[in-house]
Amino acid sequence: MRVVSGIQPTGNLHLGNYLGAIKNWVKMQDQCECLFFLADLHAISMPHDPAELSASTREMAAALIAAGVDADKSILFNQARVPAHAELQWLLNGTARMGWLNRMTQFKDKAGKNREGSSIALFAYPVLQAADVLLYQATHVPVGEDQKQHLELARDIAAKFNTDYDTGLFPLPEPYITGSATRVMSLRNGEAKMSKSDPSDASRINMTDDDDVISQKIRKAKSDADVLPSELDGLEGRAEARNLVNIYAATANMEPQAVLNQFAGQGFGAFKPALAELLVETLRPIRERFVDLKQDQAATDALLKKGAEKAAALAKPTLDATYNALGL
Ligand code: ADP
Ligand code: NA
Repeated sequence: MRVVSGIQPTGNLHLGNYLGAIKNWVKMQDQCECLFFLADLHAISMPHDPAELSASTREMAAALIAAGVDADKSILFNQARVPAHAELQWLLNGTARMGWLNRMTQFKDKAGKNREGSSIALFAYPVLQAADVLLYQATHVPVGEDQKQHLELARDIAAKFNTDYDTGLFPLPEPYITGSATRVMSLRNGEAKMSKSDPSDASRINMTDDDDVISQKIRKAKSDADVLPSELDGLEGRAEARNLVNIYAATANMEPQAVLNQFAGQGFGAFKPALAELLVETLRPIRERFVDLKQDQAATDALLKKGAEKAAALAKPTLDATYNALGL
Protein backbone atom coordinates (compact mmCIF):
# COMPACT_ATOMS: atom_id res chain seq x y z
CA MET A 1 0.00 0.00 0.00
CA ARG A 2 1.46 3.35 -1.03
CA VAL A 3 -0.43 6.41 0.18
CA VAL A 4 0.04 9.96 -1.09
CA SER A 5 -1.58 12.83 0.78
CA GLY A 6 -1.26 16.61 0.58
CA ILE A 7 -2.24 19.43 2.89
CA GLN A 8 -2.66 23.12 2.17
CA PRO A 9 0.00 25.09 4.01
CA THR A 10 -1.71 27.14 6.72
CA GLY A 11 -0.38 29.45 9.40
CA ASN A 12 -1.74 30.15 12.90
CA LEU A 13 -2.37 26.49 13.57
CA HIS A 14 -4.92 25.41 16.16
CA LEU A 15 -6.34 22.29 17.81
CA GLY A 16 -8.75 21.78 14.88
CA ASN A 17 -5.84 21.52 12.45
CA TYR A 18 -4.03 19.16 14.81
CA LEU A 19 -6.89 16.76 15.57
CA GLY A 20 -8.57 17.06 12.16
CA ALA A 21 -5.54 16.83 9.89
CA ILE A 22 -2.02 16.68 11.31
CA LYS A 23 -2.61 13.83 13.75
CA ASN A 24 -4.02 11.57 11.02
CA TRP A 25 -0.73 11.66 9.18
CA VAL A 26 1.15 10.66 12.29
CA LYS A 27 -1.15 7.63 12.59
CA MET A 28 -1.02 6.78 8.88
CA GLN A 29 2.76 6.59 8.68
CA ASP A 30 2.70 3.48 10.89
CA GLN A 31 0.13 1.78 8.68
CA CYS A 32 1.57 2.21 5.17
CA GLU A 33 4.28 3.64 2.96
CA CYS A 34 3.47 7.35 2.96
CA LEU A 35 4.40 10.36 0.90
CA PHE A 36 3.17 13.57 2.53
CA PHE A 37 3.42 16.93 0.86
CA LEU A 38 2.60 20.55 1.52
CA ALA A 39 0.43 21.64 -1.38
CA ASP A 40 2.14 24.95 -2.01
CA LEU A 41 1.65 24.75 -5.79
CA HIS A 42 -2.09 24.60 -5.22
CA ALA A 43 -1.97 27.83 -3.25
CA ILE A 44 -1.17 29.94 -6.31
CA SER A 45 -4.56 29.11 -7.84
CA MET A 46 -6.07 31.83 -5.65
CA PRO A 47 -4.82 35.36 -4.90
CA HIS A 48 -2.13 34.95 -2.26
CA ASP A 49 0.68 36.75 -0.48
CA PRO A 50 4.06 35.20 -1.44
CA ALA A 51 5.75 35.97 1.90
CA GLU A 52 2.79 34.52 3.77
CA LEU A 53 2.81 31.38 1.60
CA SER A 54 6.44 30.57 2.29
CA ALA A 55 5.98 31.29 6.01
CA SER A 56 2.85 29.09 6.17
CA THR A 57 4.57 26.27 4.30
CA ARG A 58 7.40 26.25 6.84
CA GLU A 59 4.96 26.57 9.74
CA MET A 60 2.86 23.63 8.61
CA ALA A 61 6.00 21.56 8.03
CA ALA A 62 7.27 22.43 11.52
CA ALA A 63 3.92 21.46 13.05
CA LEU A 64 3.88 18.14 11.23
CA ILE A 65 7.39 17.29 12.35
CA ALA A 66 6.68 18.48 15.91
CA ALA A 67 3.54 16.35 16.02
CA GLY A 68 5.49 13.25 15.03
CA VAL A 69 5.67 12.96 11.25
CA ASP A 70 8.96 11.15 11.08
CA ALA A 71 11.32 11.52 8.13
CA ASP A 72 12.52 7.95 8.73
CA LYS A 73 9.01 6.53 8.41
CA SER A 74 7.55 8.70 5.67
CA ILE A 75 8.59 11.15 2.99
CA LEU A 76 7.70 14.76 3.79
CA PHE A 77 8.26 17.53 1.26
CA ASN A 78 6.75 20.54 -0.40
CA GLN A 79 5.34 20.15 -3.88
CA ALA A 80 7.14 23.14 -5.41
CA ARG A 81 10.54 21.54 -4.69
CA VAL A 82 9.70 18.44 -6.74
CA PRO A 83 9.29 19.81 -10.28
CA ALA A 84 7.97 16.44 -11.49
CA HIS A 85 4.55 17.40 -10.06
CA ALA A 86 4.19 20.41 -12.37
CA GLU A 87 5.73 18.49 -15.28
CA LEU A 88 3.40 15.54 -15.00
CA GLN A 89 0.43 17.86 -14.70
CA TRP A 90 1.29 19.39 -18.08
CA LEU A 91 1.68 15.97 -19.62
CA LEU A 92 -1.70 14.88 -18.20
CA ASN A 93 -3.36 18.07 -19.48
CA GLY A 94 -3.25 16.35 -22.85
CA THR A 95 -5.45 13.57 -21.50
CA ALA A 96 -7.81 15.45 -19.14
CA ARG A 97 -10.99 16.67 -20.88
CA MET A 98 -12.54 20.14 -20.53
CA GLY A 99 -15.90 18.50 -19.90
CA TRP A 100 -14.54 16.53 -16.95
CA LEU A 101 -13.13 19.65 -15.31
CA ASN A 102 -16.30 21.61 -16.04
CA ARG A 103 -18.15 19.19 -13.79
CA MET A 104 -15.92 19.76 -10.74
CA THR A 105 -18.13 21.26 -8.05
CA GLN A 106 -15.21 22.67 -6.11
CA PHE A 107 -14.27 24.93 -9.03
CA LYS A 108 -17.86 26.15 -9.22
CA ASP A 109 -17.85 26.82 -5.46
CA LYS A 110 -14.51 28.58 -5.41
CA ALA A 111 -14.94 30.56 -8.63
CA GLY A 112 -18.50 31.56 -7.75
CA LYS A 113 -19.75 34.27 -10.09
CA ASN A 114 -16.20 35.20 -11.08
CA ARG A 115 -15.68 32.34 -13.51
CA GLU A 116 -14.18 34.53 -16.23
CA GLY A 117 -11.81 36.18 -13.77
CA SER A 118 -10.63 32.91 -12.18
CA SER A 119 -7.13 31.66 -12.80
CA ILE A 120 -6.52 28.76 -15.14
CA ALA A 121 -4.78 27.13 -12.18
CA LEU A 122 -8.02 27.12 -10.19
CA PHE A 123 -9.78 25.36 -13.07
CA ALA A 124 -6.95 22.90 -13.74
CA TYR A 125 -5.77 22.09 -10.24
CA PRO A 126 -7.67 18.78 -10.07
CA VAL A 127 -5.25 17.70 -12.83
CA LEU A 128 -2.36 18.70 -10.59
CA GLN A 129 -3.98 16.61 -7.83
CA ALA A 130 -4.12 13.69 -10.24
CA ALA A 131 -0.44 14.22 -11.05
CA ASP A 132 0.37 14.38 -7.31
CA VAL A 133 -0.80 10.80 -6.79
CA LEU A 134 -0.14 9.21 -10.21
CA LEU A 135 3.46 10.40 -10.10
CA TYR A 136 4.15 7.92 -7.29
CA GLN A 137 1.84 5.20 -8.56
CA ALA A 138 -0.10 5.60 -5.32
CA THR A 139 -2.42 2.72 -4.56
CA HIS A 140 -4.49 4.66 -2.02
CA VAL A 141 -5.43 8.26 -1.40
CA PRO A 142 -7.09 9.43 1.83
CA VAL A 143 -10.14 11.43 0.80
CA GLY A 144 -12.75 13.42 2.61
CA GLU A 145 -16.24 13.89 1.19
CA ASP A 146 -15.20 17.09 -0.63
CA GLN A 147 -12.33 15.37 -2.48
CA LYS A 148 -14.12 12.26 -3.77
CA GLN A 149 -14.83 13.86 -7.13
CA HIS A 150 -11.16 14.77 -7.58
CA LEU A 151 -10.06 11.19 -6.93
CA GLU A 152 -12.60 10.01 -9.53
CA LEU A 153 -11.01 12.45 -11.97
CA ALA A 154 -7.54 11.08 -11.22
CA ARG A 155 -8.85 7.59 -11.97
CA ASP A 156 -10.47 8.76 -15.23
CA ILE A 157 -7.25 10.43 -16.33
CA ALA A 158 -5.17 7.36 -15.44
CA ALA A 159 -7.55 5.00 -17.26
CA LYS A 160 -7.74 7.13 -20.42
CA PHE A 161 -3.96 7.57 -20.51
CA ASN A 162 -3.43 3.82 -20.12
CA THR A 163 -5.89 3.13 -22.95
CA ASP A 164 -4.83 5.92 -25.33
CA TYR A 165 -1.15 5.05 -25.11
CA ASP A 166 -1.59 1.33 -24.62
CA THR A 167 0.33 1.20 -21.37
CA GLY A 168 -0.27 -0.09 -17.87
CA LEU A 169 1.68 2.83 -16.46
CA PHE A 170 -0.83 4.23 -14.00
CA PRO A 171 -2.56 2.02 -11.43
CA LEU A 172 -5.99 3.43 -10.53
CA PRO A 173 -5.74 4.82 -6.99
CA GLU A 174 -8.37 3.68 -4.47
CA PRO A 175 -9.86 5.82 -1.71
CA TYR A 176 -8.33 5.19 1.69
CA ILE A 177 -10.98 5.46 4.33
CA THR A 178 -9.40 6.60 7.58
CA GLY A 179 -12.61 6.77 9.62
CA SER A 180 -14.62 9.90 10.17
CA ALA A 181 -12.34 12.88 10.63
CA THR A 182 -12.73 14.79 13.85
CA ARG A 183 -14.48 18.08 13.31
CA VAL A 184 -13.44 20.35 16.14
CA MET A 185 -15.92 23.09 16.94
CA SER A 186 -15.42 26.53 18.47
CA LEU A 187 -15.10 26.63 22.27
CA ARG A 188 -17.55 29.55 22.26
CA ASN A 189 -20.14 28.16 19.85
CA GLY A 190 -20.69 24.45 19.27
CA GLU A 191 -22.30 25.12 15.87
CA ALA A 192 -19.23 26.85 14.37
CA LYS A 193 -15.97 25.21 13.30
CA MET A 194 -12.88 26.04 15.30
CA SER A 195 -11.01 28.30 12.90
CA LYS A 196 -8.10 30.70 12.72
CA SER A 197 -10.45 33.26 11.17
CA ASP A 198 -12.74 33.41 14.22
CA PRO A 199 -12.14 36.89 15.71
CA SER A 200 -12.41 35.49 19.27
CA ASP A 201 -9.11 33.97 20.41
CA ALA A 202 -11.00 32.23 23.24
CA SER A 203 -12.84 30.18 20.57
CA ARG A 204 -9.75 28.11 19.79
CA ILE A 205 -6.66 26.55 21.28
CA ASN A 206 -3.64 27.65 19.28
CA MET A 207 -0.69 25.31 18.82
CA THR A 208 1.43 28.00 20.51
CA ASP A 209 -0.80 28.50 23.60
CA ASP A 210 1.02 27.71 26.84
CA ASP A 211 -0.25 25.42 29.61
CA ASP A 212 -2.05 28.17 31.53
CA VAL A 213 -3.76 29.59 28.47
CA ILE A 214 -4.98 26.12 27.46
CA SER A 215 -6.38 25.46 30.95
CA GLN A 216 -8.05 28.85 31.09
CA LYS A 217 -9.67 28.47 27.67
CA ILE A 218 -11.09 25.06 28.62
CA ARG A 219 -12.32 26.38 31.96
CA LYS A 220 -14.15 29.22 30.14
CA ALA A 221 -15.35 27.06 27.25
CA LYS A 222 -19.11 27.12 26.76
CA SER A 223 -20.79 24.00 28.19
CA ASP A 224 -24.02 23.35 30.08
CA ALA A 225 -25.26 22.64 33.59
CA ASP A 226 -26.18 18.99 33.00
CA VAL A 227 -24.04 15.98 33.82
CA LEU A 228 -22.41 13.86 31.15
CA PRO A 229 -24.84 11.15 30.02
CA SER A 230 -24.04 7.45 29.80
CA GLU A 231 -25.07 7.23 26.11
CA LEU A 232 -24.25 9.42 23.10
CA ASP A 233 -27.94 10.31 22.45
CA GLY A 234 -27.79 12.15 25.75
CA LEU A 235 -25.58 14.72 23.99
CA GLU A 236 -28.16 15.52 21.31
CA GLY A 237 -28.97 19.22 21.23
CA ARG A 238 -25.92 19.86 23.44
CA ALA A 239 -23.42 20.93 20.77
CA GLU A 240 -20.85 22.43 23.17
CA ALA A 241 -20.93 19.41 25.50
CA ARG A 242 -20.62 17.08 22.53
CA ASN A 243 -17.65 19.06 21.22
CA LEU A 244 -15.75 18.82 24.52
CA VAL A 245 -16.37 15.07 24.65
CA ASN A 246 -15.19 14.73 21.03
CA ILE A 247 -12.04 16.73 21.75
CA TYR A 248 -11.27 14.48 24.73
CA ALA A 249 -11.86 11.36 22.64
CA ALA A 250 -9.75 12.46 19.67
CA THR A 251 -6.90 13.61 21.88
CA ALA A 252 -6.86 10.42 23.97
CA ASN A 253 -7.41 8.13 20.93
CA MET A 254 -10.70 6.91 22.40
CA GLU A 255 -14.22 6.52 21.07
CA PRO A 256 -16.61 9.21 22.39
CA GLN A 257 -18.66 6.43 24.03
CA ALA A 258 -15.59 5.32 25.97
CA VAL A 259 -15.21 8.87 27.29
CA LEU A 260 -18.83 8.77 28.48
CA ASN A 261 -18.24 5.39 30.12
CA GLN A 262 -15.53 7.09 32.14
CA PHE A 263 -17.29 10.38 32.98
CA ALA A 264 -21.04 9.60 32.98
CA GLY A 265 -22.81 11.28 35.88
CA GLN A 266 -20.14 13.94 36.35
CA GLY A 267 -20.69 17.60 35.54
CA PHE A 268 -18.40 19.92 33.59
CA GLY A 269 -16.91 21.12 36.87
CA ALA A 270 -15.18 17.74 37.01
CA PHE A 271 -14.82 17.01 33.29
CA LYS A 272 -13.18 20.29 32.26
CA PRO A 273 -10.11 19.96 34.54
CA ALA A 274 -9.58 16.41 33.25
CA LEU A 275 -9.85 17.64 29.65
CA ALA A 276 -7.52 20.56 30.35
CA GLU A 277 -4.92 18.25 31.88
CA LEU A 278 -5.12 15.85 28.95
CA LEU A 279 -4.69 18.69 26.44
CA VAL A 280 -1.85 20.31 28.37
CA GLU A 281 0.07 17.04 28.66
CA THR A 282 -0.53 16.14 24.99
CA LEU A 283 0.20 19.53 23.48
CA ARG A 284 3.17 20.59 25.64
CA PRO A 285 5.84 18.41 23.99
CA ILE A 286 4.45 19.18 20.52
CA ARG A 287 4.43 22.92 21.24
CA GLU A 288 7.99 22.85 22.58
CA ARG A 289 9.30 21.12 19.43
CA PHE A 290 7.14 23.35 17.24
CA VAL A 291 8.45 26.57 18.80
CA ASP A 292 12.06 25.30 18.52
CA LEU A 293 11.58 24.39 14.87
CA LYS A 294 9.97 27.73 14.10
CA GLN A 295 13.10 29.40 15.44
CA ASP A 296 15.42 27.08 13.55
CA GLN A 297 14.13 27.43 10.00
CA ALA A 298 17.27 25.83 8.63
CA ALA A 299 16.39 22.55 10.36
CA THR A 300 12.91 22.45 8.80
CA ASP A 301 14.26 23.46 5.41
CA ALA A 302 16.91 20.73 5.56
CA LEU A 303 14.27 18.09 6.35
CA LEU A 304 12.05 19.28 3.50
CA LYS A 305 15.00 19.29 1.12
CA LYS A 306 15.86 15.70 2.00
CA GLY A 307 12.22 14.70 1.58
CA ALA A 308 12.09 16.38 -1.82
CA GLU A 309 15.18 14.48 -2.96
CA LYS A 310 13.63 11.15 -1.93
CA ALA A 311 10.32 12.03 -3.59
CA ALA A 312 12.03 13.13 -6.80
CA ALA A 313 13.93 9.86 -6.99
CA LEU A 314 10.70 7.88 -6.61
CA ALA A 315 8.96 10.05 -9.20
CA LYS A 316 11.62 9.86 -11.90
CA PRO A 317 10.87 6.45 -13.46
CA THR A 318 7.17 7.28 -13.79
CA LEU A 319 7.86 10.70 -15.25
CA ASP A 320 10.37 9.26 -17.72
CA ALA A 321 7.93 6.55 -18.74
CA THR A 322 5.21 9.17 -19.28
CA TYR A 323 7.40 11.23 -21.63
CA ASN A 324 8.31 8.05 -23.39
CA ALA A 325 4.69 6.89 -23.81
CA LEU A 326 3.85 10.28 -25.33
CA GLY A 327 6.72 10.15 -27.81
CA LEU A 328 8.51 13.03 -26.14
P1 ADP B 1 -8.91 27.15 9.14
O1 ADP B 1 -10.33 26.64 9.01
O2 ADP B 1 -8.54 27.50 10.52
O3 ADP B 1 -8.66 28.26 8.13
P2 ADP B 1 -7.63 25.44 7.20
O4 ADP B 1 -8.82 25.58 6.35
O5 ADP B 1 -6.41 26.15 6.76
O6 ADP B 1 -8.00 25.92 8.69
O7 ADP B 1 -7.37 23.90 7.41
C1 ADP B 1 -6.14 23.20 7.30
C2 ADP B 1 -6.44 21.74 7.61
O8 ADP B 1 -6.95 21.59 8.93
C3 ADP B 1 -7.49 21.11 6.71
O9 ADP B 1 -7.11 19.76 6.46
C4 ADP B 1 -8.76 21.16 7.53
O10 ADP B 1 -9.66 20.12 7.18
C5 ADP B 1 -8.23 20.98 8.94
N1 ADP B 1 -9.11 21.72 9.88
C6 ADP B 1 -9.21 23.06 9.99
N2 ADP B 1 -10.09 23.39 10.95
C7 ADP B 1 -10.57 22.23 11.46
C8 ADP B 1 -11.51 21.91 12.49
N3 ADP B 1 -12.11 22.86 13.20
N4 ADP B 1 -11.75 20.60 12.75
C9 ADP B 1 -11.13 19.62 12.04
N5 ADP B 1 -10.23 19.86 11.07
C10 ADP B 1 -9.93 21.14 10.77
NA1 NA C 1 -10.46 27.49 6.00
